[in-house]
Amino acid sequence: ADRGSEATVDAASTLTRLGVVGCGLMGSGIAEVAAKAGLDVAVREIDEAAAAAGRARLTTSLDRGVRGGKLSEADRDAVLGRLSFTTDLGDFADRDVVIEAVAENEQLKADIFGALDKVVTRPDAIFASNTSSIPIAKLGMATSRPEQVVGIHFFNPVPVQKLVEIVPSLLTSPETAQAAQDFATGRLGKEVIRSQDRAGFVVNSLLVPYLLAAVRMLESGFAAAADIDRGMVLGCAHPMGPLALCDLIGLDTIKAVAESMYEEFKEPLYAPPPLLMRMVDAGLLGKKSGRGFHSYPR
Ligand code: 3HC
Repeated sequence: ADRGSEATVDAASTLTRLGVVGCGLMGSGIAEVAAKAGLDVAVREIDEAAAAAGRARLTTSLDRGVRGGKLSEADRDAVLGRLSFTTDLGDFADRDVVIEAVAENEQLKADIFGALDKVVTRPDAIFASNTSSIPIAKLGMATSRPEQVVGIHFFNPVPVQKLVEIVPSLLTSPETAQAAQDFATGRLGKEVIRSQDRAGFVVNSLLVPYLLAAVRMLESGFAAAADIDRGMVLGCAHPMGPLALCDLIGLDTIKAVAESMYEEFKEPLYAPPPLLMRMVDAGLLGKKSGRGFHSYPR
């Protein structure tokens, strides 16, 4: 077992320069975990304002660590020193691994993979997506090297949740999948499970129908939001209730994941209910917008 773990660290040891595309809820968490692990992390956002917001999100999270006594001020500054922000994907030429974490939009993601393919020079670089539900095979096909494209799916909040799903597509080479797995465990300190390239992968396939059932329960007047959440927290020892969890993940993200899963399997339980659709229409996206099923005063 010892030899195995050494091999894991070795395989991942040449993967030291990470690029993260997108610095929202997930991208900022991924960048934070990687910079804390000592990696050189470049983050790309769409414009200066988005880059500044991403940096602020990350700094807030690190400051929270300092306040909680988990991180010294010197460590926080060292982590920030390992992070750089750019609006130009061209700055990713020297990256060993790139993780894309933009919104769940297939065309947007495919365009990014196409652009990364042209920019990244390392012949065996890893091109990863944090998508929850878009086929990895499609993202691979947007590049000239689909064997190097793999899903590395994180969970929210990224600094807290131990799990990463590793998702090889039909075209991903076993070497890429193994290197991604070694990177997630050996470099980032996460635990991994493997999933086939099916919308939702393992965790969301089980989680999303449950979350949507809670929305339908509220929608039909079966029970109040607070009671639905208290039910699962106090009755089943979940860390938070399903509607609070929808708010944490973001209702727009749940909607996009549910739609991809519905499109893939045509399973009615995956179809987003009207209340969820209308809340997204109304900009009630959950914690990040200040209001979802619950309110989050700023
Ligand atoms: N960054 C760093 N640390 C954080 C953090 C963050 N953003 N948020 C919380 N923490 C840490 C706190 O510092 C604290 O650490 P400590 O116990 O060592 O002091 C610990 O996490 C607990 O935090 P709090 O006491 O502030 O709050 P809670 O105990 O209420 O926990 C929670 C908050 C971690 C969000 C917990 O409720 C939880 O795990 N909820 C379930 C979340 C979940 O299911 N996530 C998966 C979503 S699915 C997904 O992401 C997939 C996507 O594709 C849809």
